[in-house]
Amino acid sequence: MDNGLTRRELLATGLAVGAVVTLPVGALASASVRGARTMEPKLVTVPQAIPEKVYTTERVGISRKTHDEHLKLWQGYANKTNEIRRALAELDTDPAKANQIYSAIRALKVDLTFAYEGYINHNVYFDTIGGQGGPATGPIADLIQEAYGSFDKWAVDFKATGIAGRGWAFLAYDHEEQRVFNYIGDAQNTFPIWNHTVVLALDVYEHAYYLDFQTARARYIDAYLQVIDWDAVNARLRAALR
Ligand SMILES: [Fe+2]
Repeated sequence: MDNGLTRRELLATGLAVGAVVTLPVGALASASVRGARTMEPKLVTVPQAIPEKVYTTERVGISRKTHDEHLKLWQGYANKTNEIRRALAELDTDPAKANQIYSAIRALKVDLTFAYEGYINHNVYFDTIGGQGGPATGPIADLIQEAYGSFDKWAVDFKATGIAGRGWAFLAYDHEEQRVFNYIGDAQNTFPIWNHTVVLALDVYEHAYYLDFQTARARYIDAYLQVIDWDAVNARLRAALR
C-alpha cells in the first residue's frame, strides 16, 4: 500500500471498510469515475509443460498423453480468464448500462467464474497429483481422521463423491467449522461454498480419464488415490491456516 500499511493492517483498523461505506453513491457514478479504467487486469499463467512429477501417474495407468491433452484445456481456462479480465478492464461500467437480464458486465462476470474457477481447479489438480498416494500424511491426515474416523472411510466417501460429480470432487478445509469435507462439483463453477479452501481437486470430466480407462471412472479414481501428492495437499493446508 502507498501509505505503508499492509492490506491486513488496513482491514484491522477498519479504514478499508470505512472508506467503502462512507463513499457517497453519487460519487461512484460521477463523470470522472465513469470515464476511468476500472482496474488493471491481473493476468494468470499456466506452465508451458506438465510438471515432470505429474507424469509419474503412468505407473497407475493415467498416461502422459492424457496429461498433455489436458494441459491444452488448462491453458484454455487461463487464456479465457485473461481475455475476460482485459475486457472488464476496458468495460464502460456506467450503472445505467448494467442489467440483470443481459448486459456486458453481467455476461463477463458470470463467465469469469467459469473461466477462473476452471483455472483454479486445474491448478489444484495438477499440483496435487504425481505423489506416492496411499494414506494421507501430515496435518491433513489428522483432519481426515477427525472428520471421517479413518482414512479408508474418507477414501470411500471421496470415491463416491467423484462418481456422483459431473466434473469435480473437492476436499476442502472449512474455516467456519475448522474441519474438512468432500464436496461435489459439476461444472467448474457450480456449488461453491464460501470460507473454504480447496486442498485437493479430483477432475472427473471424461477428458481426465477416457483415453486410459474409457468409461470406467471408478477405476480411474482408484488409480488417482494411488498418486495423490499429500505433501502438496499439506502445503496448501498450511498456507490456508497461516
Ligand atoms: Fe480438466
